[in-house]
Amino acid sequence: MMNHRILVAIFAFIALVACTDNTTVCSPDGNIEATFSIEGNGVPHYSLKAYGQDVIGTSAMGLEALEANLKDGFEVVRVIRDKADEEWTQPWGENKQMRDHHNEMAVLMRNVEGVELTARFKAFDDGMGFRYEYSAPVDSLTIVGDNTYFNFAEDGTSWTIGSYFSGYELPYREQAISATENANTPFTFQMGPLYGSIHEAALYDFPEMNLYRQDSLDFKSELAPRPDGTLARVGGSFVTPWRTFQIATEAVGLINSSLILNLNDPCAIEDVSWIKPQKYVGVWWGMHLGTQVWTMGPRHGATTENAIRHIDFAAANNIGGVLFEGWNKGWENWGGSQHFDYCEPYEDFDLEYIVAYAKEKGVSLWMHNETGGSIFEYENVMEKAFEKYQSLGVNYLKTGYAGGMPDGIRHHSQRAVQHYQKVVETAAKYQIAIDAHEPIKETGIRRTWPNMMTREGARGMEWNAWSEGNSAEYQCILPFVRLLGGPMDYTPGIFDIYYEAGRGMGMVPWNGDNSKCYIKTTLARQIANWVLIYSPLQMACDLIENYQGHPAFQFFRDFDPDCDWSKALAGEIGDFIVIARRAGENFFLGAGTNQDARTVDVPLDFLKPGVKYNAAIYADDPHTWAIRQPDGTVAQDKQAYRIMHREVTSKDTLNILMNAHGGQAISFIPKE
Ligand code: NOJ
Ligand code: CA
Repeated sequence: MMNHRILVAIFAFIALVACTDNTTVCSPDGNIEATFSIEGNGVPHYSLKAYGQDVIGTSAMGLEALEANLKDGFEVVRVIRDKADEEWTQPWGENKQMRDHHNEMAVLMRNVEGVELTARFKAFDDGMGFRYEYSAPVDSLTIVGDNTYFNFAEDGTSWTIGSYFSGYELPYREQAISATENANTPFTFQMGPLYGSIHEAALYDFPEMNLYRQDSLDFKSELAPRPDGTLARVGGSFVTPWRTFQIATEAVGLINSSLILNLNDPCAIEDVSWIKPQKYVGVWWGMHLGTQVWTMGPRHGATTENAIRHIDFAAANNIGGVLFEGWNKGWENWGGSQHFDYCEPYEDFDLEYIVAYAKEKGVSLWMHNETGGSIFEYENVMEKAFEKYQSLGVNYLKTGYAGGMPDGIRHHSQRAVQHYQKVVETAAKYQIAIDAHEPIKETGIRRTWPNMMTREGARGMEWNAWSEGNSAEYQCILPFVRLLGGPMDYTPGIFDIYYEAGRGMGMVPWNGDNSKCYIKTTLARQIANWVLIYSPLQMACDLIENYQGHPAFQFFRDFDPDCDWSKALAGEIGDFIVIARRAGENFFLGAGTNQDARTVDVPLDFLKPGVKYNAAIYADDPHTWAIRQPDGTVAQDKQAYRIMHREVTSKDTLNILMNAHGGQAISFIPKE
């Protein structure tokens, strides 16, 4: 049998031969290889190989417009090559130190109609991206088709949500690539020994891309349409987002990839000193549970009294911010005319007093702007609102688009993308950081606009309050799909797993029957999610009374979302995941499993050598069965946990034991 070294040498030789090809570009390590060709009637094509294996077979490229021929008749004018190996830093992120190491190939083409097209490819060790740069001899273009194909070289498994141009809050499907009719991106897949994910980077002023299966393993890009059925309006010269392909030999390699950020432009904000990660609590879960409401009345959540209670709690627990939903007038119109007032507080929310109180306590106040999807109205008034927030010293804002947009505009169409971007850029002017719910998907624009800190864009915690909720398996898929785009405001951390406290307060259903709802993971997994589901703005979302005096809340008190370094250590998509992060001198580790109990050995070689750490281990309790479920069945008590303390160094290995639906969280704090 051929040994591994000989095989690697043969692959390297094949790669070398391919890389000298006139229209092939290889990653710096030679493992990723994109090839360009012109086929048939002058139609540009590409293919992708990784580690010697075909991943995407020859597939067409290009767009279609009404006013000019963007599609065919192209001839190559010249091929320009470039390369880069640069370090860059970001004000916050999973990793603050980044490296952009790639080879570039720009294929310049022209057709007889005088349309110029550059297909620009960048090959990195963790994948490849290409984009189109068009220049047509007209003032503007109506894009009516995207002829970018993704012809998978062989079948495999895919993990995706279905394509729907107005939201992402859908359960994942694990199925054969060939059984996937349509999907949003990230489109994550396993093909033989390789893992991959197709997504996009730097989505500005263009509709988002979805993948629709044409035939067998051949998928075509479908862009979120405009109300009239066309896809986009652009100038005669324009650049598309990057089409990205993250590739790795292990599942966690996808999480450790920095391809998406490397395909975005450097920071556009000069002074980033005000953009800071933060932990927060909020007047929020009560509304989803139905113990409180957003509107003014006897059950109003955002009252002055409740605000003060939350500010005191944050100040006492090393938590930087407090979010208030339902502070402003207009909630009675949600679901109807969708008219909100973004400046006027309800009479029982004394904004000026609360602002002063929070300031005195050193706690940031978060404003909330639910728009219900009314983007035109919001665009007209947001600047005035942001001005007011800045004058109050508010620099965190959660936005929301829970509702249809006007005139049939889809949430993922070009007009909506423009809207989301306008909010980010306007907010930057007033030093406001954004946490967007019902957003456009994250494509790495946080590099350029770091005040776009976090967003939802998948089924978050709220679904557990009023639906069958999010399974442990779902939470083992999330890091390998949605989170490849960037941070998510999942709003983790429910401790009252069966809503016993909530039920005691009276949970009035408002979004369907909630009598059988509860959290589908263990308490330890809820803690681990603070590490696993990366967000620079990280919420402890339960009612604060459920944290008060709870020994396990110490983890969140110690936790620091301002991390410097992160690494996914082990995992398989949908099965389990282990991630470690460093923030300053402290390290945090999160582990989670699906419906199967599991043990994972984790070498602590990521810790600083020679330092002794206090490891506080928040773990599942292995022997607990009880009647806790609201339907009365006897099952594992997901709320049972234990806390253990150990002294460890980088030479130790921890055996992480997780119950079914469970997890484990560990803080590593250096001993004095
Ligand atoms: C949906 C958001 O995801 C949720 O966090 C928020 O509470 C509601 N909309 C109301 O704005
Ligand atoms: Ca939502």
